Amino acid sequence: MTDAGRHPRIKIHTLSQVVDIKGNVGNFDVKIVKKARYVDEKECTACGDCAKVCPVVRPDEFNLGLSSRRAIYSPFPQAVPSAYVINSHECLGHNPVVCSKCLDACEKKCIDFHMSDETFTERVGTIVVATGLKPHDPRALDEYGFTRFENVLTSLEFERLVNAGGPTQGHLIRPTDRKPPKSVGFIQCVGSRSARRGKSYCSNICCMNTIKSTLVLKEHHPDMAVKVFYIDIRAFGKGFEDLYTRSRRQGVHYVRGLPGHVEELPNGGLRVAVENIASGALEFFELDMLVLAIGIEPASGTQRLQEMLGLQLTPDGFFLEAHPKLQPVDAATRGIFYAGCAEGPKDIKESVTQASAAAVRAIRLMQADQITAEAITSEVITEQCKACGKCAEVCPYNAITVDPKKKIPAQIATAACTGCGTCAAECPFGAITMNHFTDQQIYEQIDTLLAERPEEKILTFACNWCSYAGADYAGVSRLQYPPNARLIRTMCSGRVDEAFIWHGFKKGAPVILVSGCHIGDCHYINANHWTVKRVENVRKKMEKRGLRPERLQLEWVSAAEGVRFAQVMTRMEQLRQGVSSQEIAETVTLLEK
Ligand code: FES
Repeated sequence: MTDAGRHPRIKIHTLSQVVDIKGNVGNFDVKIVKKARYVDEKECTACGDCAKVCPVVRPDEFNLGLSSRRAIYSPFPQAVPSAYVINSHECLGHNPVVCSKCLDACEKKCIDFHMSDETFTERVGTIVVATGLKPHDPRALDEYGFTRFENVLTSLEFERLVNAGGPTQGHLIRPTDRKPPKSVGFIQCVGSRSARRGKSYCSNICCMNTIKSTLVLKEHHPDMAVKVFYIDIRAFGKGFEDLYTRSRRQGVHYVRGLPGHVEELPNGGLRVAVENIASGALEFFELDMLVLAIGIEPASGTQRLQEMLGLQLTPDGFFLEAHPKLQPVDAATRGIFYAGCAEGPKDIKESVTQASAAAVRAIRLMQADQITAEAITSEVITEQCKACGKCAEVCPYNAITVDPKKKIPAQIATAACTGCGTCAAECPFGAITMNHFTDQQIYEQIDTLLAERPEEKILTFACNWCSYAGADYAGVSRLQYPPNARLIRTMCSGRVDEAFIWHGFKKGAPVILVSGCHIGDCHYINANHWTVKRVENVRKKMEKRGLRPERLQLEWVSAAEGVRFAQVMTRMEQLRQGVSSQEIAETVTLLEK
């Protein structure tokens, strides 16, 4: 951080919040509100004279309330910039009658109560989202007595206590009597691996953090009794198993099972009841201190940022990468990358690796003067555009700008367009065409596939990434499915225009299948949500026109679901057999009118 602060080409905005982001790769406009510091950060030498005279005492957030700070303070010793800040909600003010002590104490005169919040916009080419994490708050489910017993701490509080720069200069003491504990217990998976008790995912770091803490304790206090209560130990990184073995060898007692009950003893100690899964016995332990290994949660504000950038989140609330194996640091939106716990729980090594990868991915884009656009992108036919704004509304990448009020036609930022085709499918005026997947090409495919004996065909629109690949997989797996399936490949199911479906029925298709990636798996963020809406819309219209809506089906098939593809096709064939020639003929006549 200090290096970054000194780097001539890195600008750090502290006390700042991103309030809006517009634009796309190469041209993001990031609107930032910078809170007033009330201290000139260039002049302040962090001498601390101001804090010495400040009469306001508050809990120090960095030390998790284990020590105190003043209303004018430095957030933590290595803070960048190395300057003090005033919390305006706590400060008594600069009126000499009320206070103004810091003003008098500051020799360099760097305190300025007239500073105000600033709003400005930065133009950037790429964005790395590194919003970090929020530690699990064990207060909500007070099963281990965190809010009732002073000697129950979180792993973060424990870290501060054993840190040489912490509130006790690294001396571990019990909060109740400020004496060193003789026995310490760690409870694993607090807020992790249980949807009922927090989050269902594994927080990744807690096992190794606890093992490291036990080694620190044993190094400084070889006689201390250290116990770890756990479900299972996940020591999967390089050298981690060795650390675990070393911890056991040094006498740390690992008890397989999470405590069911914790009670406080008159001397401030804690009595823990745990069912040892390994022995099947109910065991009781008396400990001087308990440490809760709390899990990791997505940072506050993740959802707001996700909305601003049009990104995707996993069901756990972390940012979703473009591809878990091949693009692990890229967002689906071009020019945006992830680093650290924004994308999921990870330790320091993994975060550093990911941050380096994200930086290189960003540099790779930025070092070129030009960006190579995808071959398959959308284009606006300006003369036909009525500036209704529908295309901009459905574009998952915010690649389209249009001004419906001023009737300024749509414009597509080609560099940001990834070619899902949802805009082309949604445009009511046919004013958007898609390179290599033009309406004309798709109509001609429909005409050709249904040119002969259309009543025997199953017309299927399959998205390139999932359903079409699923069909392929069914083929290479030698799975049996009806040979009369006729597939039209589109990049995304979102490209399937309502008009294509009507055209298929007009050409005599007995049934039509629209197929794409499962919801949440669409390769174009959420474009298949529009597919759902569109298909539902067409089905309603079919019903109104006296056509059976079951003849139009929507199914999600992933690339690995060859079996499912074959099953879906078999079902479609059964449906097809239920459509009579007369019904098809009536549909054709109705649609030709
Ligand atoms: Fe498959 Fe969008 S890419 S449905």
